[in-house]
Amino acid sequence: MLETSRLTLKVATLQEAPFMMELNSDPEVIRYTGDTPQSSILEAETVIKERLLPQFEKYRMGRFSVYLKDGTYIGWCGLRFFSEKNEVDLGYRLMKKYWGQGYASEASQICLKYGFETLKLKCIIAKAMPENIASIKVMQKLYMTFRGFHNDPTDPQGFIRYDITADEFKRCEK
Ligand SMILES: CC(C)(COP(=O)(O)OP(=O)(O)OC[C@H]1O[C@@H](n2cnc3c(N)ncnc32)[C@H](O)[C@@H]1OP(=O)(O)O)[C@@H](O)C(=O)NCCC(=O)NCCS
Repeated sequence: MLETSRLTLKVATLQEAPFMMELNSDPEVIRYTGDTPQSSILEAETVIKERLLPQFEKYRMGRFSVYLKDGTYIGWCGLRFFSEKNEVDLGYRLMKKYWGQGYASEASQICLKYGFETLKLKCIIAKAMPENIASIKVMQKLYMTFRGFHNDPTDPQGFIRYDITADEFKRCEK
């Protein structure tokens, strides 16, 4: 579990499947993600069981569920390890009514700290579609560096890539 002044980040549980489905079925939320809308709680449960939880078990990292201090679920944020590329990716996705209040940046900052200080990672990347201004703003607020187009055939829409190293993170925290 990770804590910030306004947020609590927890490992996902199956109880969150209905919230995940609500989040992932909103066309505005998934507009710039390349995902298709989730249409059932079963689908959300499968993602939690088969994608989210194994990441925590194998690599001690994953997409955390993000809660306000009053216990309201607002979305997810966290790290994901892509073993085939040996790369750790920061991602975030919040319910629309919680956009624009600095939550994604706050949650991401504690995930970067966890990645660098606890997991001792050397570099963390993040990707976004060029049209996704809010996401790009988050990467910039985290002092990540723009690295151009992400040349990966698994990202069909041409995502742009940012990254930050452990040394850069340490310098920016001061
Ligand atoms: C991307 C996302 C997580 C950002 O969450 P958030 O909590 O609103 O982010 P923050 O408030 O921390 O920062 C967003 C910044 O972008 C700015 N912003 C948002 N939309 C903008 C726009 N259209 N033009 C200019 N700036 C914009 C905000 O003003 C804020 O900057 P500021 O703090 O300097 O005012 C949220 O929009 C979301 O869930 N989107 C859908 C899922 C998604 O696209 N995820 C990323 C995939 S790469």
